[in-house]
Amino acid sequence: MRSLISILDLSVEELDQLIATAKDIIAHPENYWDKCAHKKLATLFYEPSTRTRLSFEAAMLELGGSVLGFSEASSSSASKGESMADTAKILSCYADIMAIRHPKEGAPFVASNNATIPVINAGDGGHNHPTQTLADLLTISREMGRVNDLTIGLCGDLKYGRTVHSLIEAMSRYTGIKFVLISPKELKIPGFIRYNVLEKHGIPYTETDSLEEAMPQLDVLYMTRIQRERFDDPYEYERLKDSYVLTAEKMGLAKEQMCVLHPLPRVNEISVKVDDDPRAAYFRQALNGKYMRMALILKLLEEAKANPIREAIDTSDLEYDRVCQNPKCITQTEQELPQLFRCTDKAADIHRCIYCEQRA
Ligand code: NCD
Repeated sequence: MRSLISILDLSVEELDQLIATAKDIIAHPENYWDKCAHKKLATLFYEPSTRTRLSFEAAMLELGGSVLGFSEASSSSASKGESMADTAKILSCYADIMAIRHPKEGAPFVASNNATIPVINAGDGGHNHPTQTLADLLTISREMGRVNDLTIGLCGDLKYGRTVHSLIEAMSRYTGIKFVLISPKELKIPGFIRYNVLEKHGIPYTETDSLEEAMPQLDVLYMTRIQRERFDDPYEYERLKDSYVLTAEKMGLAKEQMCVLHPLPRVNEISVKVDDDPRAAYFRQALNGKYMRMALILKLLEEAKANPIREAIDTSDLEYDRVCQNPKCITQTEQELPQLFRCTDKAADIHRCIYCEQRA
């Protein structure tokens, strides 16, 4: 049995297979109407959501299954202090698969180590959001006709934007990919992406704070919202919130074949005047998210049927002698969780928390 916690849990072949399944669902939806009959998806959302939760639910319903769950932490026993581990054990009694969104980084990983059903990470703090990446991949494939040989601009909040982190991890494994990272200096990508992904694998990338300057070279522009809820200092958010606004004029600088993606919700960073531009793909991207979630639910349930045993995590290279300092890490609230670290760079002596990937 497998869960989806990081997009790296899926190989490139598996990503391509999910894209192919999603395209088949689009072409022949009737073939999938009963695939999940009598199966239940639980959606555990401890943070607000429109697209992710409802597209998961629509996906399960279109597969003939049912859904249960909650959409805010205050209506679950988390408000009474129940741990993620206990909640995961309980939900395993009621559902066949679960999707979890949580403000603490690493919470779905903890759930997957305690559940006896597959767990899907639907967004953990400012860390990862692998199913948004599935939506992004299908969108790039459908809009551009390929997922290789692309220059991808990521613009906005690259520090806290979890969709950006998962997308870079996924796209870095395709050939001919270059990234242009467009952000204010305060919101540059975090170390676990810069060093563990881009530098480690020699992926070409440049950094700039100018969207106008980057625009002409891009095949894909991925806009993001400045993540207000992740800022410790509200004044810092106020100062940075309008760093980038994509306007119809700026679209004039772009290639004719470019496409614009945004995980949504948008606040101010894409003018509604851009919506009618044929290159604006963000509403189609939201629909693609439903098809990819259908493909994912099918895959994980099939795997769980073939092999219902949860694989234990490999602890052979883990270290126990540190304490994670990230206030947003799940180890900060679940006191009895063992602190676990992995050395990610021997030469530089860098160790990262296995839950949130912050440097210890
Ligand atoms: C994103 C998220 O939750 O990280 N939304 C989504 O799932 N489509 C992006 C965001 O909230 O800015």
